[in-house]
Amino acid sequence: MARVLVTGRIPQPGIDLLEQAGHEAIVWAGPGPMPRGELLRCVEGASAVVSLISERIDAEVLTAAGPSLRVVSNVAVGYNNIDVPACSAAGVVVTNTPGVLTDATADIAMALILMVTRRLAEGERLVRSGRPWGWSMFTMLGTDIRGRQLGVVGMGQIGTALARRARAFGMSVVYSNRGEADPAAVSELGARRVEMDELFATSDVVSLHCPYTAETLHLVSAARLQTMKQTAYLINTSRGPVVDEAALVDALASGVISGVGLDVFEHEPEVHPGLLDRDDVVLLPHLGSATVETRTGMAVLAARNTVAVLAGQPPLTAVRA
Ligand code: DGY
Repeated sequence: MARVLVTGRIPQPGIDLLEQAGHEAIVWAGPGPMPRGELLRCVEGASAVVSLISERIDAEVLTAAGPSLRVVSNVAVGYNNIDVPACSAAGVVVTNTPGVLTDATADIAMALILMVTRRLAEGERLVRSGRPWGWSMFTMLGTDIRGRQLGVVGMGQIGTALARRARAFGMSVVYSNRGEADPAAVSELGARRVEMDELFATSDVVSLHCPYTAETLHLVSAARLQTMKQTAYLINTSRGPVVDEAALVDALASGVISGVGLDVFEHEPEVHPGLLDRDDVVLLPHLGSATVETRTGMAVLAARNTVAVLAGQPPLTAVRA
């Protein structure tokens, strides 16, 4: 029986899989994220860690775990909370959960596009506020997205799934991507690959789907925001630090862009105070993958990765160092 540290509560089917494989799951049940001291204490002697994005898995954790540790299975597609090179150096496999959350996250990105362009959160706040309102010709006019250009930064699975949704709403799609995008999807969607500068300068909506790495930190900088159309909107469902949040607040305040929809924040869960009282801003509490079905799929995939590695088999979805 191997000890598997699960750094926070996950849907039960994930735990069941670990236990059916004969492993002991030690689950941090809260309240709140697992404190660092608890993580360092509980990881000692563990063979696997099933980690949530709230926990940083780095050299200190690997040292605390000791030589028994064989796999870190992140319950997320993003894995910027894990020091992958340190894990590789220690011979520890890292896995993530791509695929199972593609549609849920693309749905949230599409929802943010509609919310910000059609002023939906602002309208909802008005109705709830009890302030007087009534239909009128010029009340809370938004902007159509049909015929507008979506710029997808990172045409991986989620970016492609968003592009598919946007096409159904009548948008055209350009994208920029580090590697090759899926050629079949690109041709089906009529999506055009462009340089990042052109994407930001010509798109009506820019949506971020790149991983957070040293290269993408503040990819959306003050300078980059200045190149966007004044009528454009920015959507971020990837990771907060990809956007320089202070620069974004300045850009909104000075009318450089028209609005923003954010599901993630630079210093999550803190939100820049300059965003909080703006009506051209839609803020969600990192809900990208937050459906029962998707979170269950993520927990099950993380558990299957863990069980595979502990059985000496290749993981299903390994992260490349
Ligand atoms: C992910 O999978 O990276 C999400 O942000 C977590 O819900």
